[in-house]
Amino acid sequence: MNVTIIGAGYVGLTTGAALAYVGHDVTLVDKNQALVDRLNAGEPTIHEPGLQELISLAADRIHVTTDLPNLDGHGVVMLAVGTPPKDNGDADLRYVDVAAQEIGERLQPGATVTVVNKSTVPVGSALHVQGILERTLRRRGLDSVPVRIASNPEFLAEGRAVLDSLYPDRIVIGTEAPEAAATLRELYAPLLEQTFEPPPGAPRPERLPLPPMITTTPTSAEVTKYAANAFLATKISFINEFAGLAERVGADITEVARAIGLDDRIGGRYLHAGIGWGGSCFGKDTAAILATADTYGYRMPIVEATVGVNRDARLRVVERLQDDLKVLRGRTIGLLGLAFKGNTDDVRDAPALTLIEHLTERGAVVKVHDPIAMPSMQRDHAGLPVEYAASERELAEGCDALVVVTDWDAYRTLPLKDLADVMKGDLLLDARNLIDGRTAEAAGLRYVGVGRAAPAAEVAPV
Ligand SMILES: NC(=O)c1ccc[n+]([C@@H]2O[C@H](COP(=O)([O-])OP(=O)(O)OC[C@H]3O[C@@H](n4cnc5c(N)ncnc54)[C@H](O)[C@@H]3O)[C@@H](O)[C@H]2O)c1
Repeated sequence: MNVTIIGAGYVGLTTGAALAYVGHDVTLVDKNQALVDRLNAGEPTIHEPGLQELISLAADRIHVTTDLPNLDGHGVVMLAVGTPPKDNGDADLRYVDVAAQEIGERLQPGATVTVVNKSTVPVGSALHVQGILERTLRRRGLDSVPVRIASNPEFLAEGRAVLDSLYPDRIVIGTEAPEAAATLRELYAPLLEQTFEPPPGAPRPERLPLPPMITTTPTSAEVTKYAANAFLATKISFINEFAGLAERVGADITEVARAIGLDDRIGGRYLHAGIGWGGSCFGKDTAAILATADTYGYRMPIVEATVGVNRDARLRVVERLQDDLKVLRGRTIGLLGLAFKGNTDDVRDAPALTLIEHLTERGAVVKVHDPIAMPSMQRDHAGLPVEYAASERELAEGCDALVVVTDWDAYRTLPLKDLADVMKGDLLLDARNLIDGRTAEAAGLRYVGVGRAAPAAEVAPV
């Protein structure tokens, strides 16, 4: 099937690569000329495990361009453009509007195309996009071209986006048009039935249940995406709230989380206490759902609290440094990690940014290291008042304290003794609970985790 995807960022590119890999002809359209040039040169534009392999395996079915081609015949056009927050938290639909307008300009007589909202968009966006298309077609005298709209929210998580795209838990389609549902069932058939040969870099998980396709109304699909992200954000804030209590009563939150996560009504994922969530989705989507609720005269105190607890989780790391070092002015603090989480180069709404802002405000010198995300930080936040270090050792040199900010696997096995040797102070603040406290103390560091009263005891395997 012909699939055109507007927006070749984290979602558009991964979705496009997965759909091409399972046999569709994919055209990726992005306004960003530099990004298109890099994709056409075979260069990675984002760091996502397994993505380059998937792109190269499907290269002859992926076309990348800056211009939306004419849309005729049968197929699918997906909107995967950004929906950043406005000042009041509402999702800014300006990129969606431009893309929808362009689709309306490119639809040709006789086309039976399904237009899919894959971007995370507020309630009513399917109707909104439909209106733009219908008005554009009417102006062009093409009222007879059918407008088929579907909402198809994306649930992939950065860092495991290829796995999530090839082996989704579920596919949600919200549409009033039976033809659109049928087209999307055909599009997703290889994923729904898992009929493709897995790529070497992203093997199919064992005993994978076939994902259901849930067909519902556009509004329910739109709400589903926000409910999913608000729930995951709440789960992280929940365990962070308990981490604060654990610190006071002397419990170890990593053991508590493990013990409750084994209850399959709760589940262990998104239950790691630390510096809280970040990234391009949770903050923006919780703000957007609160703005939507406000518009409809409704309050969502759980989501409000989730946002507040997350803000506090970040600030608590600054306060812990302050409590320990007393004076922050003139101190050198080394941040291990810039990406908002491990396995991605994405620094949007990264907790590291909050730390940098608050620590430099209090006069500290901030050094930073990240195995992958330093170039994206330098690109997206040029002029940030930090010193970039090429290695963990270079970062540690002269530091009063080190803070583990990102849960990179590489940071689980840091050469702690080497780092301790070149530091000025001895504080290791593990804001991701990645490191075994006793190992850190044996290396000569003073270890402080989140929600752990003392260096963690050995946890017996379950
Ligand atoms: N990143 C995630 O983990 C994730 C997960 C699920 C859903 N989403 C949602 O998916 C959407 C896209 O997110 P993303 O992270 O991929 O964004 P992104 O910023 O990485 O990519 C968006 C791309 O769209 C391009 N673009 C904007 N307007 C365009 C136009 N008119 N024509 C062509 N290209 C255009 C931009 O140049 C950019 O490359 C958002 O609504 C987001 O909330 C993101």
